[in-house]
Amino acid sequence: MVDLPKINDPRGNLTFVEGGKHVPFAIQRVFYLYDVPGGADRGGHALKSCHQFLIAISGSFNVTLYDGKENQRIHLNRSYYGLYLPPMIWREMDNFSSGSVCLVLASTAYDPTDYYRDYNEYLKTLAEGKK
Ligand code: TYD
Repeated sequence: MVDLPKINDPRGNLTFVEGGKHVPFAIQRVFYLYDVPGGADRGGHALKSCHQFLIAISGSFNVTLYDGKENQRIHLNRSYYGLYLPPMIWREMDNFSSGSVCLVLASTAYDPTDYYRDYNEYLKTLAEGKK
């Protein structure tokens, strides 16, 4: 988890993110998940080389992570906290609150060949000690 700068202001708060400073990569892509219906699951993949950084810009959701050794479940619910995900972390996202928005900063352009979408294939690759 990364604590992002927060400029408190009676007119409304402001948080900013700089690539290479608050996130350990240059930002090549930004995407966001929104209008997520109740009960929906997102994620369900690991990335071979892309680094990502997730922020609950609005509302909240859960991210369940697996790195080949342990599982961790994280509740993201503040727009000034970010979750850094290096490559080869399996992630599942659920429990999106109504109106929530998940902002994702990514180190690469979208590349469907960078994905493991099959959990068993991901586990096999980890077991073989390669990407
Ligand atoms: P997907 O990775 O399945 O979403 P999630 O993991 O959040 O459930 O992506 C959904 C669709 O959007 C899929 O068809 C690929 C497309 N997509 C892009 O075209 N560009 C992107 O940057 C992303 C993240 C997805």
